[in-house]
Amino acid sequence: MAKFQAPKGVSEYFPDNSRAFEYVRETIIACAKSSGFALMELPIFEDTELFARGVGESTDVVRKEMYTFEDRGGRSITLRPEGTAGVMRSTIEHNLDRGQLPVKVYYSGPFFRAERPQAGRYRQFYQVGIEAIGLSDPLIDVEVIAVAHRAFQELGLKQYRLEITSLGDAITRANYLKELRAFISTLELDEETRARAEINPLRLFDDKRSEIKSALTNAPILMDYLTPESAADFRTVCETLSELGIDYQVNNRMVRGLDYYTGTAFEFVHEGLGAQSGIGGGGRYDGLMEQLGGAKLSGIGFGLGIDRIILACQAEGVGFGSEPELDLFIVPLGTSTQALVLAEQLRARGVRVDLAYGDKSLKGGMKAADKSGARFSIVLGDEEFKNQEVSLKEMATGEVQSVTLSALANRLVELTATFGEHS
Ligand code: HAM
Repeated sequence: MAKFQAPKGVSEYFPDNSRAFEYVRETIIACAKSSGFALMELPIFEDTELFARGVGESTDVVRKEMYTFEDRGGRSITLRPEGTAGVMRSTIEHNLDRGQLPVKVYYSGPFFRAERPQAGRYRQFYQVGIEAIGLSDPLIDVEVIAVAHRAFQELGLKQYRLEITSLGDAITRANYLKELRAFISTLELDEETRARAEINPLRLFDDKRSEIKSALTNAPILMDYLTPESAADFRTVCETLSELGIDYQVNNRMVRGLDYYTGTAFEFVHEGLGAQSGIGGGGRYDGLMEQLGGAKLSGIGFGLGIDRIILACQAEGVGFGSEPELDLFIVPLGTSTQALVLAEQLRARGVRVDLAYGDKSLKGGMKAADKSGARFSIVLGDEEFKNQEVSLKEMATGEVQSVTLSALANRLVELTATFGEHS
C-alpha cells in the first residue's frame, strides 16, 4: 500500500525539531504574559462571513486563500486564516469590551491559507499573536511592538529590522484614497485588476507583477496625507520606540495583506530568509470591532510566524535553549518493572524521568541515556536493590555520587533546583 503523506505545503514538527518549535512559541508567550496579556483559546474554524467582513473581500486571503467548506448543517465554515477577527468575535460575544480596558490577550496555534507552498510559506502555519483592545493611546502601540522585539532579543535574533508606517485615521484615508483613485484612473489596467482596485485601491500595491509595480512608482504616498492628529500619534510611537532603544525604519510603502489596518502598522523583516522574509506583522485596527457588530473601539496587535522565526534562528545559527528536558535517565538491568515504579515515584515529586525498556545491555542503556539529553543517569540492577543505593552520574562531567534509594528523590529535587544557578 502506498504510504500516506501529509497534505502539500503543511509544516509539522516532531522530535527533534519540535523542541525548537516549543522553545520559540514558549519564549514569545512568556514575553506576552510578562506584559499582562492573558490566554484566549479560540476555535480553528469560524463562520466564513467573519473573515469575509473582518479581513476584507479585496484581500488575497479572502479572495483565494481560504479553506472554506460547508459543514453538515449546510453552514459555510472557514479554517481561520488569521487570528484577529476571531479575537474580535469572541471579545464581542463574551462582552469583554464592557469590562476593564484594554482587553489584553494572546493566542497561539495553527492558521490556514491556501498559498503556493515554498520555503517559509505554508498552507498550515503557526502564529503566536497578541491583541490589546479598547484604547487608542499610541503608547500601547509601542508596548505591543516591544513584546515582539523582546521575544526576538530573547531568542537571540539579530539580523532583523522593524519597519513601521502609519495608515492614518478615517479622514487621512478618505483624502488619500481620493487622490489614489484619481491616479489609478490614469493607468491602463485589465478588468480584474481594476475591479479589485475599486473595492480597495490600496490592494494594487500588493500586486507582484512588475508592470503594475512600475506603474505605481509615482503613486501618491499615504503618509503625506496624515492629519495632524495621526501625525502626532505616529511621532509619539517613533519617539517612544527610540526611547526604549528599539530601532525601526519608516516604510511609507508598506502594504499589509489584510484590510482592517489603520494608524500604526508594522512588520518585522528578517534578512536571512529570502522571499518569505516577514517573521511577524501587525498594527492598529480602528473600525474592525464596530464592523463586526461590536462597540466602536480600536485595538492593536501582531501575529508572529513561528515557522519563519525557527528558520530565522537557524539562518543566524542561534540555538533553542540549553536547559536539559530530562533530569534523570534510568538504565535497568534485566526487567524494567522496578525502574518504572521508581520513575513514577520520582515523577510524582516533580523529577523529569525517562527509562530504557527491554533487555538492553548496559552499553545500549547508557547510549540511550546519552541520547536522551538527561542531566543524570543511574543504573538499576540486583546489586543496587540489594544495597538500596545507586550511583548518580552527571552525564556532562562523568562525576558520580552514591545516593540511597530513599534519598534519591530529595537529592534530585535539590540538584535540579540549583541547576539554573550553576549553569
Ligand atoms: P499577517 O502579516 O498576515 O498578519 O501574518 C503574520 C505573520 O504570520 C507573518 O509575518 C508571517 O510570519 C506569518 N505567516 C503568514 N502567512 C504565512 C504562511 N503562509 N506561511 C508561514 N508563515 C506565514 C496577521 O495574520 C494579523 N492577524 C496580525 C495582526 C494581529 N494584526 C493585528 N493583530
